[in-house]
Amino acid sequence: MRLSEEESTDRIARVRRDLRDRVVILGHHYQRESVIRFADFRGDSLKLAQLAVSRSDAAFIVFCGVHFMAESADMLRAPHQKVILPDLTAGCPMADMADLPRAERCWAELNRAAVWPVIPITYINSSARIKAFTGRHGGIVCTSSNARAILEWAFRQAPRILFLPDQHLGRNTARAMGIPPEEILVWDPDQPQGGHSTEALRRARVLLWKGHCYVHQMFKISHVRHFQNQDPPYTILVHPECAADVVQAADMAGSTGFIVETIRQSAPGSRWAIGTEIHLVERLAREYPDRTIVPLTRFGAVCATMSRIDPPHLLWVLEAIAAGSPVNVIRVPEEDARDARLALQRMLDHS
Ligand code: 13P
Ligand code: SF4
Repeated sequence: MRLSEEESTDRIARVRRDLRDRVVILGHHYQRESVIRFADFRGDSLKLAQLAVSRSDAAFIVFCGVHFMAESADMLRAPHQKVILPDLTAGCPMADMADLPRAERCWAELNRAAVWPVIPITYINSSARIKAFTGRHGGIVCTSSNARAILEWAFRQAPRILFLPDQHLGRNTARAMGIPPEEILVWDPDQPQGGHSTEALRRARVLLWKGHCYVHQMFKISHVRHFQNQDPPYTILVHPECAADVVQAADMAGSTGFIVETIRQSAPGSRWAIGTEIHLVERLAREYPDRTIVPLTRFGAVCATMSRIDPPHLLWVLEAIAAGSPVNVIRVPEEDARDARLALQRMLDHS
């Protein structure tokens, strides 16, 4: 921690060179510049999960992202590989909003009220235990880039879904599929029967776990209107973890990979206001100086836990690998991994 940024950058570059193809570094689009510059591959959650499957040549996968991403990589890796998260406190607060005891209670209550059959879908932003719950009950994982295809798959199996833990991605996807608001209910895990009568639950087609991403709740409809009223107006591009009014008023919504690709294909001179984590928006603004790219809110939408991965932590884990005593190895217990893998594999098969 006492090294200057220049010193840690030099040492990371040196140890990275020495480790050659024993290591692959994966970086999520929200990572800070001083870290993502060392990533061999960048991506959104789906692409990074697919890379964890395909890069079986490297003995170590160093995951510059948050805990649930490293857990997913651990469940998808080849047996000889190890997955390393540079800072174990890099979690996702939204993933923590769904826990196994309350998910099991929800399932039992739905069963008792004969609200059946239901297919559980969990956003990849969830713990391995929630993925295992989903896999055990015939369900599937989704990411922000395949959510619609996964919901369509689920509705071919059953008339009703339970979507955890992000109510906003679930609602936005269901609304885009034409499901009316009156058939979408929020399940409050702290209320009996999620806060609903049996009749209301039986009428619903989509039950949304009451979770959210605090970063994406910073974007408001007033921000969208502000940029739409400029002359010439900005095109509004947001992540589907934003609230439904923001997503519906925006011109486009999609995963971080979709956002990167949309800007890559955009015309020079175009103007964009982007509603997602600030590190990605600032990077796009730097990479495409011939477009005008601004954050949808000027009150820095930072994901504090993504930011915990910094050069000192990256250096520490790489030097530990080089010294033969790796640290921060992520290992999901096999009793969770077995069922969670079912749900992850179903997703990869339908993506
Ligand atoms: P993406 O899958 O779109 O990269 O989203 C991950 C995430 O955590 C967004 O907040
Ligand atoms: Fe979790 Fe939100 Fe951070 Fe994504 S931006 S990792 S959903 S807290």
